Amino acid sequence: MRALVLNGLKKLDVEDIEKPALGADEVRVDTAYAGICGTDKALYAGLPGSADAVPPIVLGHENSGVISEVGANVTDFQVGDRVTVDPNIYDGTCEYCRTGRPELCDNLSAVGVTRDGGFEESFTAPVSVVYHVPENVSLRAATVTEPISCAVHGMKLLKFTPYQKALVIGDGFMGELFVQLLQAYGVHQVDLAGIVQEKLDFNKEKFGVTNTFNTANGEEIPADYDVVIEAVGLPQTQEQAIEATKKGAQVMMFGVGEPDQKFSMNTYEVFKKQLTIQGSFINPHAFEDSLALLSSGKLDVEPLISHELDLSEIQSYLDGEISGVSKAIAKVSGAK
Ligand SMILES: NC(=O)c1ccc[n+]([C@@H]2O[C@H](COP(=O)([O-])OP(=O)(O)OC[C@H]3O[C@@H](n4cnc5c(N)ncnc54)[C@H](O)[C@@H]3O)[C@@H](O)[C@H]2O)c1
Ligand SMILES: [Zn+2]
Repeated sequence: MRALVLNGLKKLDVEDIEKPALGADEVRVDTAYAGICGTDKALYAGLPGSADAVPPIVLGHENSGVISEVGANVTDFQVGDRVTVDPNIYDGTCEYCRTGRPELCDNLSAVGVTRDGGFEESFTAPVSVVYHVPENVSLRAATVTEPISCAVHGMKLLKFTPYQKALVIGDGFMGELFVQLLQAYGVHQVDLAGIVQEKLDFNKEKFGVTNTFNTANGEEIPADYDVVIEAVGLPQTQEQAIEATKKGAQVMMFGVGEPDQKFSMNTYEVFKKQLTIQGSFINPHAFEDSLALLSSGKLDVEPLISHELDLSEIQSYLDGEISGVSKAIAKVSGAK
């Protein structure tokens, strides 16, 4: 079958490889689409993602597809089922798994990171991480269930009431997801800060954003927010996030910085404003919520998917040669 294999540092090759054998508790998924994200950029550049990817490996941890084979012990899924796969597999036995925080598992493995993922015609996954896609959700939209689930996990770590005013910093795909999610969770006002005027206008016109701040144009963000989601990962946006808070605020540090990155903040303000500063790592127990949000229409991702690439085009995208991308996905079979 056709696969895009990561053979080393920044070395991706389209190859014809054998289909992997199927375990008794696994299903085989014929890939419809596979999303490409910042983690893939990191892994491609030899940096760790949620775990280390050891070449040769097929990336693609965001995916959707159709089951083409089920293992001997599998009863809940059948050939032909439309599915999406949560890439993260927890050992279930470490201190963190045993205390209800599986995302912090000491022995995390992941489809498309530590075992072959969706950048190939078919991949396998343990049935415990496979989810049915609701009938009214396209496989194209279901491809991004994983990033939605990361955002949903972040949302679950915060406390929401309708009265709050929220700010999202970051006009990329994740920031845009948070814009919709905050409203789905009942927050009455969502503002957006970014650097791409078109994106800011688009989210105001289409997705209910109240105020926008183009910080590249020097527009100042007021210190007036109960909830701030930082979805960029740069020191300056992390500083902006803390500075945009009012008393009692919660700050979600969702963006991923460089491993040795630091930013400065006024710790007296953390005390005086009684701030909560929260990190968020991957997406435990969030796929059902994400699929429900897609199915109910509270989350509309189709307008955010800007590019459908062939497997052979992924390298150019990761090298930054394709511009104007909001969210890129690879079209593998393109099944509906
Ligand atoms: N915590 C998690 O589990 C998790 C999961 C997925 C992604 N992330 C992280 O979230 C961040 C956003 O992801 P993404 O997929 O949207 O990334 P992206 O690369 O698509 O978008 C980044 C966006 O940031 C905007 N930006 C750059 N500088 C800015 C600034 N100074 N102010 C405001 N916006 C600015 C850019 O215009 C771009 O749209 C990344 O750091 C990513 O690694 C975290
Ligand atoms: Zn564990």
